[in-house]
Amino acid sequence: MYFDNSATSFPKPECVYNAVMDYMKNVGASPGRGTYAKAEEANRLLYQTRKAAARLFGAPRPSNIVFTANSTEAINLVIKGILRQGDHVITTSCEHNAVWRPLKKLEQSLGIVVHTIPCSPDGSISVKDAESLLSPLVRLAVFVHSSNVIGSVFPVGELTEIARKHGVPVLVDASQTAGCVPIDVEELGVDYLAFTGHKGLMGPSGTGGLYIRDGLVLDTLKEGGTGSMAVSPFQPEDAPDRYEAGTINMAGLAGFKASLEFIDETGIEEISRHKQSLITRLMEGLESESDIIMYGPPSGVLRSGLLSLNIGGASPYDIAALLDKRYGIMTRAGLHCAPQAHRVLGTVETGTLRVSVGWFNTKQQIDTLVLALKEIAQELR
Ligand SMILES: Cc1ncc(COP(=O)(O)O)c(C=O)c1O
Repeated sequence: MYFDNSATSFPKPECVYNAVMDYMKNVGASPGRGTYAKAEEANRLLYQTRKAAARLFGAPRPSNIVFTANSTEAINLVIKGILRQGDHVITTSCEHNAVWRPLKKLEQSLGIVVHTIPCSPDGSISVKDAESLLSPLVRLAVFVHSSNVIGSVFPVGELTEIARKHGVPVLVDASQTAGCVPIDVEELGVDYLAFTGHKGLMGPSGTGGLYIRDGLVLDTLKEGGTGSMAVSPFQPEDAPDRYEAGTINMAGLAGFKASLEFIDETGIEEISRHKQSLITRLMEGLESESDIIMYGPPSGVLRSGLLSLNIGGASPYDIAALLDKRYGIMTRAGLHCAPQAHRVLGTVETGTLRVSVGWFNTKQQIDTLVLALKEIAQELR
């Protein structure tokens, strides 16, 4: 029984496996690199994948979507493509290392100044706190849409509104929310949205991307062949080619196209409702167990399909091992690459046990998990 969907979703929809295999066996060619029929087919596949991603996020054009290996690469592209010597940046106190480490690296190498909006243990942040940190020196605001440890969903629209008033572009790390809650970049006023294909979006690993608002241009993270403007010694100016140097992961993207279509057909609202109802059932099921500490927002508040918990003073690693060995239940223990979020919760020394649900989890599975956690809690008393 798999409950580690915030790390990577499993299983994938059947159409994803089929699409990867179909591309590998029947297409094979690289997009943008040839004029024969199979290369044209690869071009079409790539374009349709871009179109499906643009549609999911409400982007006006497929060319607003740049494909990367994952959200980590997309986040690095924006942070390193914008920030220069001495720039100020605002972020939150619960970022994943995908944001936190690039910022710390630039703090060391370029002397950037990082201001953090404090996140409360219940997963809330204050828009007023964010506003108080904005100044003419701030060049970028970057924040996670939902922490992969705490699970609350931040008020992106309110945050972008105040950032906009100060002329500060906003990068949102949607690694946990893409494919979990509806996202409309136009409605939310987001300038850059980083997403990863293999989590809630149910695609293969090695896929992901970045939405870039029309008219914004970043410095490149890498340069090389794009299949376009080959005579020029420099990267093309226009997205997406500008940011996609090197042969793209077409096999992965063929699968990603299938998963995006699966989400479109199923309905993102339906997926969101399903995950929310599973997490609510889990939290309500555990409520009576006083030794089980559940972190983040209370039951009923919107979450990105995950719950961090601890049982008394027991090691979450021991509990995860017991769940796996005795019950065949897969969860994740530790810091989840986000020590900052654990500082907020006060769990940086111990870590937490994280349960994260996906589209294919069922109520019955949640009930089995609840019983197993209760049994373990009672044994530990
Ligand atoms: C909030 C958040 N940001 C970024 C990432 C990085 O995702 P990836 O490893 O796919 O780049 C993760 C992965 O766990 C995450 O949860």
